[in-house]
Amino acid sequence: MGAAADLSVTDAMTAGGHEQVVFVADAAVGLRAIIAVHSTALGPSLGGIRFWQYPTERDALVDVLRLSEAMSLKAAAAGLHQGGGKAVVLWDDQHRFRSEAFLRVLGRAIDELGGRYIAAEDVGATPADMNGLALETPWVTGVDGPGGSGDPSPVTAVGVLAAMRAAAKEVDGEPLLNGRRIVVQGAGHVGTHLVELLVDAGASVGVADIDADRVDALVRAHGVDLVAVETVLEEECDILAPCALGGAVTVETVPRLRCRAIVGAANNQLADSSVDDALVARGIVYAPDFVANAGGIINIAEEFVGYNPRRALTRAAEIEHTTARVFALARELGVAPGRAAETMARRRMAEEGGGRRWRPGDPAAWTRGEPLRTLRPGVAPAKAV
Ligand code: NAI
Repeated sequence: MGAAADLSVTDAMTAGGHEQVVFVADAAVGLRAIIAVHSTALGPSLGGIRFWQYPTERDALVDVLRLSEAMSLKAAAAGLHQGGGKAVVLWDDQHRFRSEAFLRVLGRAIDELGGRYIAAEDVGATPADMNGLALETPWVTGVDGPGGSGDPSPVTAVGVLAAMRAAAKEVDGEPLLNGRRIVVQGAGHVGTHLVELLVDAGASVGVADIDADRVDALVRAHGVDLVAVETVLEEECDILAPCALGGAVTVETVPRLRCRAIVGAANNQLADSSVDDALVARGIVYAPDFVANAGGIINIAEEFVGYNPRRALTRAAEIEHTTARVFALARELGVAPGRAAETMARRRMAEEGGGRRWRPGDPAAWTRGEPLRTLRPGVAPAKAV
């Protein structure tokens, strides 16, 4: 018996509304994984595979249940015809090599779900992993090759910019970023693209990153200001954009904030849901992270209909309207925006999904009635890892 003995899996699934949890183990290749399908009400579930050193199997289970539910909400809020799923691999050493045999076993387990779970990259995963899975299953995105959607960061940045426009309008009635002061925490993949878009939009931009070289490059290329990592949250600005790690804003930091809105790419920007209420109390507009950063998942979803970067960017720009709808619902319900976004997503799953469970062979909304498999050119079989 593992450490999950004290946790009833079906109780946890019932509480979270999860449809299916699959445990996968293979001693020969050293694989231990859990795949969680939270919901297929709106279509096949999509979500990344996380390779992580979990202290116990229980931690892995709790994580995969939480993350798969979050994927359902993100997809539903973004208006996509897909559900939420996630896989975690209990991985003891981030430097351990993943053999083709290992990836094939995991790929077969995903294949057995017949499309109910479609894999993507998450923490610790690489395009090479996706290529290895694709040797066994077509139910994998982010494959390096024809039909793949590639780096999602530019599309994510466009979505964050769109959410910023909605937040600017919420703050003072104009969806314009020209002349506004915007401070970006984290000049990584998304942050760098975002800074470029903001400079083009005429904003005054400040950037903080623990990697000084990344900020230097942006200062030199675009004339943006360097902001100290230690005080970035206290910078006076119109919009603060957390684009580094999760948990940037805590109940302790809220009183020190000097921004009018928070809109960024990072997942789980608020340390917990009470921060959302604390921001409302301070009159700071918060664009829920899973709405603002949905460009990444929108980009991947485009793979299913034949990847077209221009269409992905257009759909990401629609995040402006989605964010505005969240703010309007928050006002109507008298709740914080995070809760309004969740309500919006759950309503769509209930009303449009109507308790459906997607089965292998069922058409998906994006296939216009065709079986899913025929619309995935270039996905399988991929090149060997
Ligand atoms: P990244 O790893 O390329 O960039 C993160 C940057 O943050 C790095 O430059 C790092 O040095 C910096 N950083 C870390 N700690 C910091 C701190 N305390 N202060 C200032 N800077 C710090 O990651 P990426 O891809 O740009 O993603 C950023 C965030 O957005 C992550 O939380 C990610 O989960 C989330 N996200 C990314 C998507 C994408 O398309 N790449 C899609 C949806 C969410």
